[in-house]
Amino acid sequence: MSGMEMQRPRPTMPVEEHIARELERLRAQQRYRTLPETGARRGPYITVGGRELLNLSSNDYLGLGSDAEPLASWMAQVERGGADGRFAMTSSSSRLLTGNFPVGAELESTIAEAYDSGAALVFNSGYHANTGILPALSTRHDLILSDRLNHASIIDGLRIAEAEYRRYRHADYDHLEELLVSTVGKYRQVFIVTESVFSMDGDLADLRRLVDLKKRYGAMLIVDEAHGVGIYGQRGLGLCEALGVLEDIDILIGTFGKAFASTGAYAVMSGLFREYLVNTMRTLIFTTALPPMMLSWSLATFTRQLGMRPERECLLGLAVRLRETLGDAGFETPGESHIVPVVLGEDRTAVTMAAALREAGYHALPVRPPTVPENSARLRFSLRADLAVEQIDALASTMQSFRS
Ligand SMILES: Cc1ncc(COP(=O)(O)O)c(C=O)c1O
Repeated sequence: MSGMEMQRPRPTMPVEEHIARELERLRAQQRYRTLPETGARRGPYITVGGRELLNLSSNDYLGLGSDAEPLASWMAQVERGGADGRFAMTSSSSRLLTGNFPVGAELESTIAEAYDSGAALVFNSGYHANTGILPALSTRHDLILSDRLNHASIIDGLRIAEAEYRRYRHADYDHLEELLVSTVGKYRQVFIVTESVFSMDGDLADLRRLVDLKKRYGAMLIVDEAHGVGIYGQRGLGLCEALGVLEDIDILIGTFGKAFASTGAYAVMSGLFREYLVNTMRTLIFTTALPPMMLSWSLATFTRQLGMRPERECLLGLAVRLRETLGDAGFETPGESHIVPVVLGEDRTAVTMAAALREAGYHALPVRPPTVPENSARLRFSLRADLAVEQIDALASTMQSFRS
């Protein structure tokens, strides 16, 4: 039979019907999502549905994104104007064509200098970074070992890469070591990839142990610090800085969209890796570069946050306080970072408690499967440095009142 004559198999169900059923299933499981309409931000507050609520669901961990002062001083620069298209609203092209502006090079050299690393490379987002780096660096002769709770963008990077991959149990480094032992000599290169601060459990990777493993087994270590930069380390360079392991990390990824109140991402690495990624990384090459305006704002926020140690200490202090009070009230609050999850179990409990919190003036969204494992639906408080101790205490007593 020629190609022209071949019959495609008939779908058993038209796509619209399939989609309608899936949406119905999500509704029945309380997992149906909509895009919430949010309004003005004022410091740690956000307007949702016409009401101003305390925002406990944002990644603006340092409060930089809702502080008028940094924006005003940057706007003053914009008004004075800048050379070399510094404040252009579009790059109009990929970085490899005409979209590579001097402000990008300035941002990269500022980052590389702060980290005292060979080089830095900026990407359009953390999603672009994670779906681009592993597929570019690894080959089908390689193996990638990834923490089971790594972010969806890392999982998508694993799926795209030609390398084999295995997922080790979350933060179970004995399991990781077993995998390393069983694969010795079978691959050209083994990559280990982890987040530093896990965004759903608020816990921390044992980076010292990972560095030890990487050295003993000749693996490469890639650390996604999306939720670590700005918060950990004297200069906000992440948990790797705080633990003194920066120089042992082969690639460290930071994002601008969270504590740094901007958009985009960066990776610090050797000059050789940078050169290779510029030549091979599809999510860098085949996309329009970030607008110079955004890069210039990222430069301003990155530089500013280097000196925000008091805010970091305040934020981590608030997290300790909230965990302690909620723990005393009998809530399960895993982790140890500024992300404080309250694990409730059933989806419905998390949804109901989020609604009750909203009535009480708090914006704290429920997190449900598949984002987290089955039966571990939770509320997730993303704390921020511009919250007052009194606000944390009031939140804890509101939560306590739900128990009694
Ligand atoms: C750990 C982690 N990595 C990467 C990303 C993606 O970063 P971006 O929002 O810049 O795409 C996120 C969240 O969005 C994240 O939580």
